[in-house]
This record gives sequence, C-alpha cells and structure tokens, in this order.
Amino acid sequence: MDLGINGRVAVVTGGARGIGAETARVLAAEGAKLVVSDIDLAAAEAVAREIQGLGGHAIAVRCDVANEAEVGQMAAAGIEAFGAIDILINNAGFNRDRYLTKMAETEWDAVMDVVLKGAFHCSRAVLPGMMERKWGRIVNIASRSVFGNPGQTNYSAAKMGLIGFTRALSLEQAKYGITVNAVAPGFVETDAMRALPTYPKLRELALAKNPVGFLGAPDDLASAITFMASERARYITGVTLYVTGGRFSS
Ligand SMILES: NC(=O)c1ccc[n+]([C@@H]2O[C@H](COP(=O)([O-])OP(=O)(O)OC[C@H]3O[C@@H](n4cnc5c(N)ncnc54)[C@H](O)[C@@H]3O)[C@@H](O)[C@H]2O)c1
Repeated sequence: MDLGINGRVAVVTGGARGIGAETARVLAAEGAKLVVSDIDLAAAEAVAREIQGLGGHAIAVRCDVANEAEVGQMAAAGIEAFGAIDILINNAGFNRDRYLTKMAETEWDAVMDVVLKGAFHCSRAVLPGMMERKWGRIVNIASRSVFGNPGQTNYSAAKMGLIGFTRALSLEQAKYGITVNAVAPGFVETDAMRALPTYPKLRELALAKNPVGFLGAPDDLASAITFMASERARYITGVTLYVTGGRFSS
C-alpha cells in the first residue's frame, strides 16, 4: 500500500531514540524528509545520519519542546532545509513517577511542560503553513496510562490532557485538510525502559497482564504512527488509537 507521503516533510520531537527514532526511520522509508528533533543533539544527529546513509533526507535539530523560542527555531530550520512542514509527531515525553503525596511541584510541572506545553508550542509553530497549504498531519503520542497508573498522576493527567487537546484541535483544523490524532502506546520495550532499575519487575508485570502475550517494540508504534500521518488516514481525525496489545486498564 502506498501511504502517499513520499516527499512530505515530517518533524519528530524526541526523535533521537526509542519510539521517536523508529518513527523517523519508518517515515523516511516511506519517502518523507525528516526533521529529527530532540534535546539530545548528538543522538538526533546519529538518527539523521542513519537515514541519510540509506538514501533518505534528514536533518537533526536540538530543541526543547517546552521552550517556545527553541520550537520556533526548530520549525524555521525545517522549513529552511525542506521548504515546509507537513507532518508533526508530538512524541517528546518522559515520566517523573511518584505517589501524589510525595510528588514535588517540579515533577508535576516538568511532565506538564514536556507533554502538554510541548504539543502546544510545536503545533502552533507548524499549523500556519499547513493551513495555508490545506494539508497536514499531527499525531500526538499519548499513553495507556490515561486509564490510571499508580505513581503517575502527573503523567496520566498530562497524557489524558493531550487526548483532549487532540479532540479540540481536530475540530478546529478539519476544514483545512489537517487531521489531528493520538496514538497511545502500552508498554514498549525501549532502551530507556531497559535502563530502569525496576525494569525486570515492570516487564514481568506488563507481560503477565498483556492479552496478546508479548510486549510491543518501537516498530509496532512506528507503523501505527506512520499510518496516522499518511494520506491514507485522511478520513480519521480526533481519535486515539491504542497500540497496547489489547491491554487498557492497570
Ligand atoms: N516506552 C513506553 O512504554 C511508552 C508507553 C506509553 C507512552 N510512551 C510515550 O512515547 C513517547 C516516546 O517514549 P520512548 O519510550 O520512546 O522514550 P525515550 O526516553 O526512549 O525517548 C524520548 C526522547 O525524548 C527526548 N526528550 C525528552 N524531553 C524532551 C524535551 N523537553 N524536548 C525534546 N525532546 C525531549 C529524549 O531526549 C529522548 O530522546 C513519550 O511521549 C512517552 O511518554 C512510551
């Protein structure tokens, strides 16, 4: 199936590793030109070089999505390199887990800033061009944790907020040929996950609770995200696609 995104320009935030890096690779394999954006420039450059090495087009840009000025510079760099931005994957995110009674305000704010304010800044930076060209795709990376995970009040609230953001923005943008959707991963085995001291226990629990009997890999997400970012998904907007192996609740 031709996804119809050959030559489109895609920004992936948090594109240096994990789900974001794999999404950048899959979008590039479909012919998209990539702006691999991350706070870790060296790792983003490695992904961009990998794409270039396979004959694709990619640049790496350092950008903290919570910082409006840096987001503006990142979007400008993408437009300067490739002429436009057609696809935005709001993927940058992290968790700062702690029970609410022990959570510091800084831990609450950090997660809100990267997940919600990041999507706010990045979407605002790319939308004017998409509206002008009457084509655009925004895919927001939410999480299965919207159903509630103990220790993740900040993260669950931010990701649920991102789903509300998705629905409202999809209605604002539908008439411009721009779709706005969310993809909500379940437990996905990334290097960051493997580095957690609690990883063996987490993995065991997640596996025991997973209806399909295996845990997702970054590629499982990248395929779903790329489809939602494609021309083929033009009649899908405002939805949240759960890529969780059938697991919903805690
Ligand atoms: N891995 C999972 O099991 C899982 C499950 C549900 C949701 N998610 C979501 O998927 C997305 C990707 O997760 P992952 O597991 O690939 O994470 P990861 O830690 O492997 O990669 C995240 C990337 O985001 C970058 N980043 C962090 N803060 C940033 C900022 N302020 N600005 C720009 N970049 C920033 C990091 O440098 C990193 O390269 C996140 O939004 C995460 O919340 C992941």
